[in-house]
Amino acid sequence: MITGGAGFIGARLAAALCDRCHVTVFDNFNPQAHDAVPQTRMRLSRHGIDVITGDIRDPRELGAAVARTRPDVIYHLAAETGTGQSFFKPAHYTDVNVMGTAHLIEAVRRHVPDLPRIILAGSRSVYGEGSCRDAAGRPAIAVERRQDDLARGLFQPRDRFGAALTPVPTDATCPVAPASVYASTKLMQEYLLTQAFWGTPTQVGILRLQNVYGPGQSINNPYTGVLSIFCRQIAEGRVLDIYEDGQITRDFVLVDDVVRAFVLMAEVTTPPQEVVDIGAGQGTTILAVARTLLTCMGAPADRYAVTGAFRPGDIRHAVADISRAAALLGWAPQVPLSDGLARLAAWSRDQLRAPAAASG
Ligand SMILES: NC(=O)c1ccc[n+]([C@@H]2O[C@H](COP(=O)([O-])OP(=O)(O)OC[C@H]3O[C@@H](n4cnc5c(N)ncnc54)[C@H](O)[C@@H]3O)[C@@H](O)[C@H]2O)c1
Repeated sequence: MITGGAGFIGARLAAALCDRCHVTVFDNFNPQAHDAVPQTRMRLSRHGIDVITGDIRDPRELGAAVARTRPDVIYHLAAETGTGQSFFKPAHYTDVNVMGTAHLIEAVRRHVPDLPRIILAGSRSVYGEGSCRDAAGRPAIAVERRQDDLARGLFQPRDRFGAALTPVPTDATCPVAPASVYASTKLMQEYLLTQAFWGTPTQVGILRLQNVYGPGQSINNPYTGVLSIFCRQIAEGRVLDIYEDGQITRDFVLVDDVVRAFVLMAEVTTPPQEVVDIGAGQGTTILAVARTLLTCMGAPADRYAVTGAFRPGDIRHAVADISRAAALLGWAPQVPLSDGLARLAAWSRDQLRAPAAASG
């Protein structure tokens, strides 16, 4: 059973799993994430996937779905996912992401108390600025960036004394420090699941995902998926707005690589006790990825503007240390960014040409 299984990652996961087992998707087809609901339904049904339309905030609908499905594994992906938007809708984000998870726990306890495994789509956002080193190369803690620094163009992460720090790849040894409402709700999901299933037959696996991109991500949702947003803007001939000084770094990992990590997390004999970080393990600046995507989509590579604008809750650098994923799951990303961007560009072009016919 996949909550949020009609979404970008969920639908891809459902399609990958349907040859191995019976798959049920539970999803409310949140309009912000879905612009072609009949087509998505048809695609899922074509794979023999059961689709239950329901809201994770509704204990009755969720309980009935869990009781009917009696799953061996639940992948919990249903969520509101916009970091920037969460700042303006804290109650809604808490309701869906936190209360939704609490309802899921209660549904499992009531209807499948012997559920073997639940796997959460966690987020690297829980780290905030993530692991850093000071000028002497020692591990150092970055505090949340201050609005007045950002307004003066001081974008680098800093320690509490104001000294600039150098970011390094982050893994679960980094203390959590969520910098947005979305990130706080994602951390709460982790806490709730590990606490509620402690000492029960249900094993909890948590993947902290970096920036997942690829075919199938809504190009109409303005709140999530920077590369999908860029695809739409490029296709419309618009100039890309690049925030801060263009040197924000993200770790872009293709959705198919992420799906493999979910499958492995379900298949390992015992899921790792520690959280597992999933990313490409390489940082790419937003400026560099924008230029490559412009080229892939046949637009001039300089059709962008570095604006200096900044957003609450945005962090500066994100790169995963993926050595645990290799050691514990035998996972490594397989698709280089250049290939993944070419696939995304091709899919976006099809999608924009004939939205109803395009498939993820
Ligand atoms: N895409 C990324 O880069 C990324 C990175 C880190 C973590 N994640 C996590 O992965 C998961 C999936 O993200 P995605 O990118 O596929 O997003 P998405 O928006 O495409 O998918 C989320 C799905 O959840 C459904 N949903 C939302 N509210 C719901 C509700 N109240 N009841 C039932 N279903 C509901 C939506 O309809 C959608 O199909 C999320 O938990 C997200 O936090 C994603």
